[in-house]
Amino acid sequence: MRAAHITQYGSPDEALEIATVDTPEPGPEEVRIQVEACALNRLDVFARLGHPEDEGDFPRRTGCDISGVVDSVGPDVTGVEEGESVIVYPGVTCGECEFCLNGEHTMCPEYRIIGEDLPGGLAEYLTVPAWNVEPKPDELDFVSAAAWPITFTTAWRMLVTTGGLRPAESALVLGASGGVGNAALQIAERIGATAYATTSSDEKAARLEEWADAVIDYTEAPFDEAVRDLTDGRGVDLVADHVGQETWQTSIDALAMGGRMVICGATSGPDPDIDIRSVYQRHRQILGAPMGNRQDFRDALKWVARGEVEPVIDRVLPLDDIADGHRLIEDREVFGKVVVRPNE
Ligand SMILES: NC(=O)c1ccc[n+]([C@@H]2O[C@H](COP(=O)([O-])OP(=O)(O)OC[C@H]3O[C@@H](n4cnc5c(N)ncnc54)[C@H](OP(=O)(O)O)[C@@H]3O)[C@@H](O)[C@H]2O)c1
Ligand SMILES: [Zn+2]
Repeated sequence: MRAAHITQYGSPDEALEIATVDTPEPGPEEVRIQVEACALNRLDVFARLGHPEDEGDFPRRTGCDISGVVDSVGPDVTGVEEGESVIVYPGVTCGECEFCLNGEHTMCPEYRIIGEDLPGGLAEYLTVPAWNVEPKPDELDFVSAAAWPITFTTAWRMLVTTGGLRPAESALVLGASGGVGNAALQIAERIGATAYATTSSDEKAARLEEWADAVIDYTEAPFDEAVRDLTDGRGVDLVADHVGQETWQTSIDALAMGGRMVICGATSGPDPDIDIRSVYQRHRQILGAPMGNRQDFRDALKWVARGEVEPVIDRVLPLDDIADGHRLIEDREVFGKVVVRPNE
């Protein structure tokens, strides 16, 4: 089968290769999926560029957002059949620890992500534990079915499960043209909260007006000042920040007294320089929300399938053009998801 491999750290052209490898066979309690669609995330770019903790084992294959058809079922699998159209929940866990038993799969000490720690879906076929497959609702085509899992599950965890956003509250979502940001903005709007978004260009801002009560261009002025103007000096109840060190202090300063900053990423770096008094003196909270558990995934799927929220698809590419997808995400030239179709 054909698969997109990262063979070294570097630019898309240096690092990405379309390889021909053995088609995997499903082991016990596993199924094999013929991949119909697999979306890219910032994570795929990080895997190619490398970060300090990385050990640099190559080749590696990313791709966490996967839809497809089960084409082979391994021994001891129950409840999943050949020919079923499915979406993959990307978190693999032990199923037995105190966290798993509590339904908190992403807290499992053995938690691994398909497409990050385990081979991902940027290939014609992929084997995954049968536990990880979820029936694809008929309302979603394969491309839409692959365009939401990581971003909407993470955003759901941030805003709903961890952030507890309520309809009468206000929320600020950073980088709302990106995957997680756009999902978070749509969820905030659908909850009924007053939703503000930041972005970096007029063109992106115009598109974000579909969901946002106001869009802030952070390249023009600090966004906490804009938030104060919009809220009569009060600040917002919740900030969803996935940008990291570049924005932390400004995000904290945009919060109301007692507000929550919910975080899931560190795109600009993990080491913010902040004044901790701006947190405790104002009763503010900083809450981690990396990905979501299986229930967050299912809850988000219900809204996606019902059309309450809609993953934005920037473009669909064949596997051969995957380097273009990486380049566009790295250069922040996409609005929404880049989806790859490995079998086309
Ligand atoms: N922990 C988890 O499980 C989890 C899950 C999903 C994502 N994440 C993390 O969340 C972050 C966002 O992921 P994503 O897939 O949504 O990324 P993405 O689609 O590439 O979106 C990132 C957006 O952030 C904005 N941005 C602001 N400052 C930036 C900067 N210094 N560098 C790059 N972008 C900047 C840009 O939007 P504007 O131009 O509109 O500002 C950009 O489009 C990543 O760090 C990712 O690793 C974590
Ligand atoms: Zn566990």
